[in-house]
Amino acid sequence: MSPSSVQTYPQEQQEDAETNEELYQRLTDLVSSWPLSPALSGFKLYRHDNGWHTNLAPMVGAMVADACFAARPSDIIVATLLKSGTTWIKALLYSTVRRREHPVDDGHHPFNSLGPHECIKFLEYQLYTRNRVPDLARLPDPRLFATHVPFVSLPRSVAASGCKIVYVCRDPKDTLVSQWNFSNRFRMRDGLEPLSVEAAADFFCDGLSPSGPYWDHVLGYWHAHLAHPDRVLFFRYREMSEDPAAHVRRLAEFVGRPFDAEEEEAGAVDAIVRLCSFEQMAGLGATKNGKTELVVGTIENNWFFRRGLVGDWENHLPPGTARKIDAITDARFRDSGLRV
Ligand code: A3P
Repeated sequence: MSPSSVQTYPQEQQEDAETNEELYQRLTDLVSSWPLSPALSGFKLYRHDNGWHTNLAPMVGAMVADACFAARPSDIIVATLLKSGTTWIKALLYSTVRRREHPVDDGHHPFNSLGPHECIKFLEYQLYTRNRVPDLARLPDPRLFATHVPFVSLPRSVAASGCKIVYVCRDPKDTLVSQWNFSNRFRMRDGLEPLSVEAAADFFCDGLSPSGPYWDHVLGYWHAHLAHPDRVLFFRYREMSEDPAAHVRRLAEFVGRPFDAEEEEAGAVDAIVRLCSFEQMAGLGATKNGKTELVVGTIENNWFFRRGLVGDWENHLPPGTARKIDAITDARFRDSGLRV
């Protein structure tokens, strides 16, 4: 499978290069005027006017996407907090939607050469970056994109288009532990001292984590799901781990491509579950040797695969810290009907 037969992304719209540079500069100046705090990530984080945090380049990217991204009703957007199962849901969505062009069992699936983050790119970490305004109009329907921005800051064309959004949430304690490990990889790579888990938890609880506060992010998409269940699918990492096949079926129905009797008979759902399992994906050459270029740095694909467990927080968080996070979660989710 050559990467060129996969959905490919144009680099930029050359003719508007100067205008693009001005737009990026204007938004960079604006974000630079907003409050800046040390944070869980290796970078200091800015606070967006809408109340969420992230570092300069992806925040500017999100705002450029807001200004320039033209969503279509047929688009499907993966939305997650960092370290909630983004890589997994991207793999499941891509292999489900593209199963006719790329059968999962023929030994030539794109995942052999490309990681899920190359198959479904982030708007603000990969596409609207480095002064680029890519021409995405030529991508085939349904176009697949991803984002970490909160619901309140999605590109306005997303709401206007009525396109579909697939959200995954994860227990905040597991999300925190995963974010802590991930950011310490950046810190160590950059010669900084690793952060203690207690310090990471303090930042996390104060909302000073990428795209945080965690609770606002989850509640934003939860309420959108309650209001528009046909447009916003809401999955939980824990439940996906318990019954991945049921989630693949729900995903396929949600995007309007349910499995037919023949596919069920042939075991197509189980084949997708196997292909996208932690063990299978972690062992692929694209994971072991591949890299993903994000605006915050080029990352080895194996960084996206650590343990892939539910409840790993018990191995890392002091009991008092876990209780503090549970108390915040109970208080914030109490009236929402949400359990993670
Ligand atoms: P851990 O650090 O707890 O192991 P994201 O993809 O949002 O960056 O999240 C990464 C987390 O999802 C990591 O969690 C990673 O191990 C886990 N993960 C990655 N691929 C997975 C898969 N195919 N199945 C289950 N979990 C996966």
